[in-house]
Amino acid sequence: MDLKNHIRPVPDYPKPGILFYDISTLLAHPEAWHETIERLAAIIAKEKPDVLAGIESRGFLLAAPLALRLGLGFIMVRKKGKLPGKTIPYSYDLEYGSDTIEIQEDAIKPGQRVVMLDDLLATGGTMEAAVALLRQAGADVRMAACIIELNFLKGREKLAGLPVTTLIQYDE
Ligand code: PRP
Ligand code: MG
Repeated sequence: MDLKNHIRPVPDYPKPGILFYDISTLLAHPEAWHETIERLAAIIAKEKPDVLAGIESRGFLLAAPLALRLGLGFIMVRKKGKLPGKTIPYSYDLEYGSDTIEIQEDAIKPGQRVVMLDDLLATGGTMEAAVALLRQAGADVRMAACIIELNFLKGREKLAGLPVTTLIQYDE
């Protein structure tokens, strides 16, 4: 099955000149979505993770079914202010300004093996920050896995040394 056939390219979203790769059509197709989860599950299982980490919000769409499929729990990496109790924040620079993500303080035990999940690897800034946050909390981050990778933005280079798995790649 060619999963790329289930991604909808949307021109000029969210701004003119940007081609947006929409996973809504993949999510809406039961066989293609099942295949997506099965392919990622097979690759992730080899890393023998203790826990998965999903990045808000579209990363949750992957982390939840994969955790269930692999018999694991998962951690929510959320935008600032969304998690109750004590949290570990991590701030990172954006093109304009900065952003902060966080996890709950007790979400991870030092040395736990973690696989990171998000729908899309673009510039890699989001994944880089989430990996840094999990490492700060003591995690042994084993892999970053996404459905889509935008090769031309070279996000993978920001994650040097970390195995990166993506199922669908675009060169423009
Ligand atoms: C999108 C996407 C990734 C990130 C990739 O999330 O879901 O998380 O951007 O971009 P990067 O590699 O350049 O950092 P977005 O911030 O649009 O939010 P959402 O997941 O809540 O829709
Ligand atoms: Mg996102």
